[in-house]
Amino acid sequence: MPGDGGDGSTWAILVAAGSGERLGADRPKAFVALGGRVLLAESLERLDSSAWIDAVVVAVPADWEEAAIVLAEELVASKVSAVVTGGATRAESVRSALDEIPDDALVVIVHDAARPLVDDAVIERVIAPLAEGYDGVVPGLALADTVKRVEGGVVAASFKKKMVALAIVVGFPLLWFSTRWYLRYAPDGYLRERATYAVMNGVVTETVDRGSLVTVQTPQAFAATSLRAAYRGTDPIEASDCASLVEARGGRIRVVEGDLRLLKVTTAADLALVESWL
Ligand code: C5P
Repeated sequence: MPGDGGDGSTWAILVAAGSGERLGADRPKAFVALGGRVLLAESLERLDSSAWIDAVVVAVPADWEEAAIVLAEELVASKVSAVVTGGATRAESVRSALDEIPDDALVVIVHDAARPLVDDAVIERVIAPLAEGYDGVVPGLALADTVKRVEGGVVAASFKKKMVALAIVVGFPLLWFSTRWYLRYAPDGYLRERATYAVMNGVVTETVDRGSLVTVQTPQAFAATSLRAAYRGTDPIEASDCASLVEARGGRIRVVEGDLRLLKVTTAADLALVESWL
């Protein structure tokens, strides 16, 4: 099949230029420690050693290019073709990396460095259906929870913010009881950090049929021409994944089975969880 690696036609873009603010580290997310080395090392090594991938372009934050080049050398990641400076948004980082990919590339895989545990099985799953004529293929996970649309604003906030908000709104006694309750029923750091909640005045307007919904991860694979068309132009672009830009141009995107271990590291607790899976 075309673009199945080995002939210089399948390129990977590894986007690692996010700031990782929610991690609360003193450095960009891609350069925090994971299992005794930097987080970026895990996905870079895995993509570099994949038989499906011929070459890799890495996007990192400004002033971290040298560190990424040194890392690639240390890992002997010989498929790394370029390290580029990322943009203000993920989409801008993808676009900068795409500029480094030659015109004869057939397939481009885009992966978040924030999902360190990418493996060959999912890479194969996203590449294979491209032969059937899809513009792109994404790994997806079915939803386990009931999904509701809420009006009145839904905000994701950390437990700490929730407690501060409670203290302001209802005063100290409820804060004290809430904290006791929380520590009793959610003592684990993962839950504590991941805790999100709907603003108290939010009202449910609809229960959405979850049967047709999936959450989508990376790596995402694309026919190179379709991905390039989606990123053409000079206007700043914003999109939380590449497939949505391809869809917006009428592209056909296939969903294949994702992997829970492709968790995106957002908080310190996510980092600890992924580390436990190494
Ligand atoms: O911010 P978020 O975790 O959703 O980012 C997903 C991926 O996109 C991460 O690997 C991050 O490094 C990357 N990213 C990027 N450039 C940005 C923002 C995010 O390469 N400006």
